[in-house]
Amino acid sequence: MPHAVLFVCLGNICRSPLAEGVFRDIVQEAGLADSFVVDSAGTGAWHIGNPPDPRSIDIAARHEVDISAQRARQVRADDFRRFDTIVAMDRDNLAALKRMGGASSPRLRLLLNRPPQDVPDPYYGGPDGFEQVYQLVRTGGQSLFQDLMTSA
Ligand code: 4NP
Repeated sequence: MPHAVLFVCLGNICRSPLAEGVFRDIVQEAGLADSFVVDSAGTGAWHIGNPPDPRSIDIAARHEVDISAQRARQVRADDFRRFDTIVAMDRDNLAALKRMGGASSPRLRLLLNRPPQDVPDPYYGGPDGFEQVYQLVRTGGQSLFQDLMTSA
């Protein structure tokens, strides 16, 4: 059975689509694409059906990751059953996921968890914020991958 990983932010147009694309890149590079199901979703509903923010598509493309075909969706109740690991981009969204039914779920974690650190929301900022998000989801994705490989 593949290990299913869901990345979650607020809108599912800036941070979690990047985390999804970068994590898919990490498992592909490791030759383990078939061992993982990778998806992303938002706790909010504003952008359902939309492609990622153009600034996220652009920063991913500069790092040779294509996220342009991804579409935003909202977290659903059955995500707590379907996904083995649910990864929040920040502590606000981790709290929202806990309220939605994952309060005692061992599947829930923060992307950057040693020490706990948020991937900051870049939506209202400038382009530098997107490069910072890219670097954080690359670093966090690599340590998540290591964690999953050592606990498998
Ligand atoms: P994300 O960024 O959570 O990284 O996708 C946001 C995108 C849109 C909004 C907030 C955050 N919004 O309020 O519309």
